[in-house]
Amino acid sequence: MIVLGIETSCDETAAAVCKDGLILSSTIGSQTIHQTFGGVVPELASREHEQWLNTLVNQTIHDSHLTLQDIEGIAVTQGPGLSGALLTGVCFAKGLSQGLNLPIIGVNHLEAHIFANFLADPTLEYPFVCLLVSGGHTQLWLVKHIGDYELMGETRDDAAGEAFDKGARILGLGYPGGPEIQKFAQGGNPNAVKFPRSFMTKDSFEFSFSGLKTSLLYYMDDFDEIDSDISLQDVTASYQSAIVDVLSEKLMNAVSFSGVKTCVIAGGVAANNSLRMAVKRKMPNTRIMFPDLVYCTDNAAMIAFLGELKLTDGQTTQINFGIQPNMKLS
Ligand code: KG4
Ligand code: ZN
Repeated sequence: MIVLGIETSCDETAAAVCKDGLILSSTIGSQTIHQTFGGVVPELASREHEQWLNTLVNQTIHDSHLTLQDIEGIAVTQGPGLSGALLTGVCFAKGLSQGLNLPIIGVNHLEAHIFANFLADPTLEYPFVCLLVSGGHTQLWLVKHIGDYELMGETRDDAAGEAFDKGARILGLGYPGGPEIQKFAQGGNPNAVKFPRSFMTKDSFEFSFSGLKTSLLYYMDDFDEIDSDISLQDVTASYQSAIVDVLSEKLMNAVSFSGVKTCVIAGGVAANNSLRMAVKRKMPNTRIMFPDLVYCTDNAAMIAFLGELKLTDGQTTQINFGIQPNMKLS
């Protein structure tokens, strides 16, 4: 089946074409307008989606060497995400679906992040543990089958991506914070500053990153690089290390607790190199998977892929469906 996927939940305008589980084309338009504000401005995000969707979708279909008439189904992000941003994609998708008389399916963005791992390796088998780490979510899921997910634990406050973004702002780095921190921390000493790690007992799958962020804020209040033998690079590496330690340790404990042999990481923070290395180092006997870098952060390939799985299973969404800004996975 040939499915067009559309993703507009936050600040990436994205489209992709998936045919029989293979991505034929995928385009991501990252909105740079937010950089000057140090975070996503919802109203601007919606306007940018609205402005670029048509061109981007046409370009993506062109890149797939197919035509609009070849598309057999539409998959679009229904939630979670920013209301206005979601609306632009959903309205566009509904228009196409009505105009071309095609089935449509609303896709859960979080579920799609998990399924991006099947794009990296279609031999991935259930059950597996997934560490889902994005800008808005930090959760540990036991994935038993498609549609059968058990939440093992999640963050009580900030998400890991948020900790990267807010930390970067405190450190005077750019947005989005994750890639900026990763780049700047290179060569820094990750043990220079002892930042706090929360809920580190073996049986706790809860996370908390707000204390870490506050701790960085206080540290930077008193920090003067000239009078210190610790550099800003060391502080950044230490901050990144605190986030990575917590994520990798809890993933390791969750895998051991659940008794599964495979784990995956999904969402934007899965692109982090230190996290990838820490997880591999801590779990030498577990099959560990990450999506390709381009499919860690927001993209429509994951939406088209999961949408195709569901549409071929006969699932569709009624045309009058609404967006779900707070959509949950189960
Ligand atoms: O999944 P995603 O693109 O959007 C959401 O669904 O939220 O995740 C975005 C988050 C941002 O917080 C960004 O700073 C973080 O992923 N991120 C990273 C890296 N690349 C993106 N965090 C750490 N290291 C990275 N290389
Ligand atoms: Zn995302």
